[in-house]
Amino acid sequence: MKEAVKQKFFTKNLLVWFDKNDRPLPWKGEKNPYYVWLSEIILQQTRVEQGLPYFEKFKATFPTVLDLAKAPADQVMKLWEGLGYYSRARNLHFTAKFIATELNGVFPNTHTAILGLKGVGPYTAAAIASFAFGLPHAVVDGNVFRVLSRVFGIETPIDTTLGKKEFNKLADALLAKDKAAMYNQAIMDFGATQCTPANPNCTICPMQKHCTAFSKKLISTLPIKSKKIKKRDRFFNYLVFKHADTIVLNKRQQKDIWLNLYDFPLVEASSLLSEEALLQDEVFQKIIGTQSFTIKKASKPFKQLLTHQKIVAIFWEIELKSALPVNDSSFFEVKQKNINNFAFPKIVDLYFKDKSLYLELF
Ligand code: ADE
Repeated sequence: MKEAVKQKFFTKNLLVWFDKNDRPLPWKGEKNPYYVWLSEIILQQTRVEQGLPYFEKFKATFPTVLDLAKAPADQVMKLWEGLGYYSRARNLHFTAKFIATELNGVFPNTHTAILGLKGVGPYTAAAIASFAFGLPHAVVDGNVFRVLSRVFGIETPIDTTLGKKEFNKLADALLAKDKAAMYNQAIMDFGATQCTPANPNCTICPMQKHCTAFSKKLISTLPIKSKKIKKRDRFFNYLVFKHADTIVLNKRQQKDIWLNLYDFPLVEASSLLSEEALLQDEVFQKIIGTQSFTIKKASKPFKQLLTHQKIVAIFWEIELKSALPVNDSSFFEVKQKNINNFAFPKIVDLYFKDKSLYLELF
């Protein structure tokens, strides 16, 4: 089949497939650019099922972009808690404030202006431009790379400049320009539910008879990535200081993961530390100063995988005789009953959940 004919076949069959397989989702057919933007930011790096309740929560709490702009940062972070990739929440808030103060509260309506918003990359700009304004811009993300690399048998690595160019060009050629919103939603759903990363059910796929990867048995090989991400191992020895009915929290302010979330005073080391090694650690000694303390317990290790890092953490529960002198400005005491007001990284939540499971709340 000639390339141009195959492209027409692809677009037509994708829209026919979408007509039969449309999933009812709350942002489908949405034209309000604020809601489209919100849903697309939530759905970046997030599965639909996981993102759905967050979309509903954000919409209910902040019905307009001005409501979001007015919210305190901690409230936005708390609502985002558990979704990961927290820079999305910080950028969301920043951009809401930018729209409120610099754009008179009006969401921009051109592709270039949308692309200029902080936190909005080419994929999200194309989604907002097409869904909210019907503009002819094709979305290209991991799902689209997968679908196109398989159907068209493209072996150029997707994480190279050359690959990105090739896929973008093909995506533009395939876009049904007069139905950009429908086409974009269709390819997103097709990638998410039919042309899945592992074990796609090719027997029911409408593209099968013209799918290069299917005929050449390359389904599990495509798409190709040139580099494999190497994860950095990090070991966190958290200090959970208890004194009367309070514990000490740390607001993360460094240029590192989890900016503006809360955790505990931390001794990061090249491994999980033994009690002896912890006691001799300089950072530990600086934090504890001249306080009397008793180490009550060390938790089991908890793990969290991030895109570029693997975090392993243990939590040392330490009883203090008196309040910790707060010599690090990011530490502060809170009543244990109030810890639910703070947004924590997943690994800290896992620790809390594990404690409540065994009814061992302090
Ligand atoms: N992933 C990103 N945006 C999406 C959308 N609008 N529908 C389904 N999955 C998505």
